[in-house]
Amino acid sequence: MEDQTAVRERLAALRDVVSQHQHRYYVEDRPTVSDAAYDALYRELQDLEAAHPHLITPDSPTQRVGAEPAEGFESVAHQVPMLSLDNARDADELREFEARLVRLQAESAQPLSYVVEPKIDGLGVALLYEGGEFVRGATRGDGRVGENITQNLRTIKSIPLRLDGELASLSRLEIRGEVYMPRRAFTRLNRQLEADGQAPFANPRNAAAGSLRLLDSRITARRPLDVFFYTLGHSEPTHPVTSHWDALQALSQAGARTNPRVARCSSIEEVIAYCQALEAERNELDYEADGVVVKVDNLALQGAFGATAHHPRWAIAFKFAAQQAISVVREITLNVGRTGALTPTAVLDAVHIAGVTVRRASLHNEDEIRRKDIRVGDTVWVERAGDVIPQVVSVILDKRPADSELFVMPEHCPVCQTAIYRPLGEVVARCPNAVCPAQLRERLLHYGGRRAMDIDGLGAAVVEQLVDRGLVRDFADLYALDQSTLEVLDRLAEKSAGNLVDAIARSRERGLARLLFGLGIRHVGERAAALLAAHYGSFAALAEADTEELAEIRDVGPVIAESVSQFCAHEENRRTLERLADAGVRLDQDPVAATPSDAAQTLAGKVFVLTGTLPNLKRNDAQALIAAAGGRVTSSVTRNTDYVVAGSDPGRKLQQAQDLDVPVLDEEQLRGLLQD
Ligand code: IVH
Repeated sequence: MEDQTAVRERLAALRDVVSQHQHRYYVEDRPTVSDAAYDALYRELQDLEAAHPHLITPDSPTQRVGAEPAEGFESVAHQVPMLSLDNARDADELREFEARLVRLQAESAQPLSYVVEPKIDGLGVALLYEGGEFVRGATRGDGRVGENITQNLRTIKSIPLRLDGELASLSRLEIRGEVYMPRRAFTRLNRQLEADGQAPFANPRNAAAGSLRLLDSRITARRPLDVFFYTLGHSEPTHPVTSHWDALQALSQAGARTNPRVARCSSIEEVIAYCQALEAERNELDYEADGVVVKVDNLALQGAFGATAHHPRWAIAFKFAAQQAISVVREITLNVGRTGALTPTAVLDAVHIAGVTVRRASLHNEDEIRRKDIRVGDTVWVERAGDVIPQVVSVILDKRPADSELFVMPEHCPVCQTAIYRPLGEVVARCPNAVCPAQLRERLLHYGGRRAMDIDGLGAAVVEQLVDRGLVRDFADLYALDQSTLEVLDRLAEKSAGNLVDAIARSRERGLARLLFGLGIRHVGERAAALLAAHYGSFAALAEADTEELAEIRDVGPVIAESVSQFCAHEENRRTLERLADAGVRLDQDPVAATPSDAAQTLAGKVFVLTGTLPNLKRNDAQALIAAAGGRVTSSVTRNTDYVVAGSDPGRKLQQAQDLDVPVLDEEQLRGLLQD
């Protein structure tokens, strides 16, 4: 019998150190231990919790992985409304703001000092702590009533699950801040979504909002969200802080991330200088800031100034100039993507916006063009923010030519002339012709892409000629190409033709995961392809599976499952795969090689023993998954065994595990470990 007190103490100590290291890593951005040392502590905590699940506390750093999907969000009434801010467009309006405050103070006037902070373009949230423990988090909503998004907020690593220091002793405390998605992370996320055949987000703010309002917090947990706190709100008992500056320090000391760019200014001219300096640097910040929030520092004065129904009188938002410019739409063209999706693009008169020449802007889809009523010949506002693709924001109607015509989506694909269709309920119009040359070109490029079949030398110029000359009609045709055929293509010398033939030949061996990704099945990105390959091991086995079975694979889900079933049911696709097989392309794979490459090494160094039959996982697959996460499977239970995974009809090993006090897991617990 283990000493429960010792376990409890060890758990508390581990929770503490791991939380501290998370804080140093995610909040202070200065880790003090190596990743490996951190991982070891984290894993010790995880293991100890796995062995003593009744001792898991909600503030444990392991409890950030998300929970089962919610049905919807409950409403949360804000005890203190979350107001919006009045705006100042320029320096003079900031001076007027101060003049107003001086008038309000009348005789009792004292010099005003301010705190200035970047105004983050994200989502306002309010977090409630009781006795230092995070108990509830809500969106701003309409300012009076927001939504309870506690589960989603818990997944954000820089949100403290437990406060440190003096603030932790308050029985109730609300703190407020802005959740946002860092720019670089946003670009990466969009790239991933597009690769997975999903719609990208228009900007980091939408991405943050979309991710925070997901009903499945396990997906939120994978979204790169972050937070800056900027308000120490209502508390019971009242906290003793007297200035906003001190409030920010207190937040920071409690472990709540604050913006390192906040500053204190002793005059409005200093405020103005800060605003101008930050505006000049805005594109270098790793988050979108649309202005500066200027706040009176003294909290008693804030109280005295009070608020109107809409905004506090003691604060104002200095708005940065929009990163917009005026241009003229010369043409609206349609791009045909790999899945036949037609994306309208505006061709513009070249215009300089924040140091970059912009000639095209995405119009997204037909509905978007309708909504903004964008027409050829229109003078428009174009916006470019950070890395985001330029957008047409609005039309300047006064400048619209008298003879302009409403945009109508062409009825036929601009490349193959097939009638375009738009599935009910979708915004994207598509060319349904699977052999549309434009689609075929994009599909071949994708198939030969580095992360798919990796065919070096199969670039846009070559693909275009192969398709236009009718040399390649589907993937399998690639394998029939020989040197003499390729040599006749423009810009392909003898040597490169030979290299390309070799590269195509080598691609036969890539295996099922890359093949599945390369086939460009809708919604099947790299990760889904790897999961499917690891699960089935061969295309033949995959093609046998029905939609429900596919949907049950962890992380696959109904959308991908449906799409894969449809693909497999399609006669033409089956023929292509037969032809690929005939051409010597491998349609199978060892499960180990197929396991998603981003699988975290969560089981590094752990030793497992498997016994009995697991309900869903074949022995090989279980072994592969453990290996991919850095663990090892051995055949006999010893003192060095970390876990025994037992299914039905377990052998002697289960008894041995119990004798040696080795934790025993079922399949679900194993998946839980892998997931973490
Ligand atoms: S202070 C009443 N500080 O801007 C005080 N707000 O238009 C308002 N925001 O809803 C909050 N960065 O979501 C404050 N450093 C910052 C901010 C900030 C972004 C957002 C916040 C608020 C909106 C007000």
